[in-house]
Amino acid sequence: MQSLIRKQLLEAFSEAEGNFVSGQIISDLLGCSRTAVWKHIEDLRKEGYELEAVRRKGYRILSKPDSISGDAVAIGLKTRYMGRQIVHEQSAGSTQKIAHSFAAEGAPEGTVVFAEEQTEGRGRMSRSWHSPKGTGIWMSMILRPSIPVNKTPQLTLLTAVAIVQAIEEVTGLHPVIKWPNDIMMNGKKLVGILTELQAEADGVHSVIIGCGINVNQQINDFPEELRNIATSVMIEKKESINRALLIQHILFRFEELYEQYLQHGFSPVKLLWEAYAISLNRQIIARTLHGSVKGKAVGIDDDGVLLVHTYDGRIEKIYSADIEI
Ligand code: BTN
Repeated sequence: MQSLIRKQLLEAFSEAEGNFVSGQIISDLLGCSRTAVWKHIEDLRKEGYELEAVRRKGYRILSKPDSISGDAVAIGLKTRYMGRQIVHEQSAGSTQKIAHSFAAEGAPEGTVVFAEEQTEGRGRMSRSWHSPKGTGIWMSMILRPSIPVNKTPQLTLLTAVAIVQAIEEVTGLHPVIKWPNDIMMNGKKLVGILTELQAEADGVHSVIIGCGINVNQQINDFPEELRNIATSVMIEKKESINRALLIQHILFRFEELYEQYLQHGFSPVKLLWEAYAISLNRQIIARTLHGSVKGKAVGIDDDGVLLVHTYDGRIEKIYSADIEI
């Protein structure tokens, strides 16, 4: 099918939001006969779209194929700038690396890089990130906020809130956040976030936020050593999830919160983050690169730094650590 016709057809279905679009409307829109419309519908079916046809009502989309190609994310996307420029790779070392080079070349704010698989996915604290083909969302978003370098960890917390909200909307599940940026379900990790910067003395040039979201993995898709500590949306929900739809919700929620953050500062995001956090008001052990800190996690400060009330009565600021609850 010609790409323009395909785009127009998918846009018409997207605007109908799951309702029927009559054959006549489609044939007027595309400027073709009803028989040609039927052929285009058949082409979409071959691509994996599930379409219902009802006499006198027309056609409607029941489900889209689980693809995250540019089109699948772009059609139906309700953002102004997040995801309006998409780079989609079948296989990449790391989407972070690609996003860094696009950012250095001047890619606009909101550009998002996706890969179906990563061969060298990066995690926090120099760990690797398991990113098998076609099952997860491996994406890096390019932002260009005018904020000082020390405020950038706030964006990690903002991203965690946006992803939790999107997962809630699409699946009805209620994941929680473990400081600083792990999204968890039933004690296992569902999502990891890695924030990196391009900054110089004159300030932040770009922030690259990498999100690794375990979506459609089965337990056996995880290597043995991760099976007790990692989970996926599909394992928790017990049904597979359309990744493009989840991405659209994440980008929409992200843009909404980010706009609020740029206008009103961190306070509204902080309130939401605290509502989703499990690590607060509990005894924790924070394992940092310089040793462990034990105590009660009492909150986060305005920079998103974790505050731990230690047994000897001090408040320790934790900038980066693994948290054991
Ligand atoms: C963590 O350690 O919790 C953070 C993991 C972040 C993984 C994502 S997947 C997309 C992006 N590309 C990478 O190489 N890493 C991030």
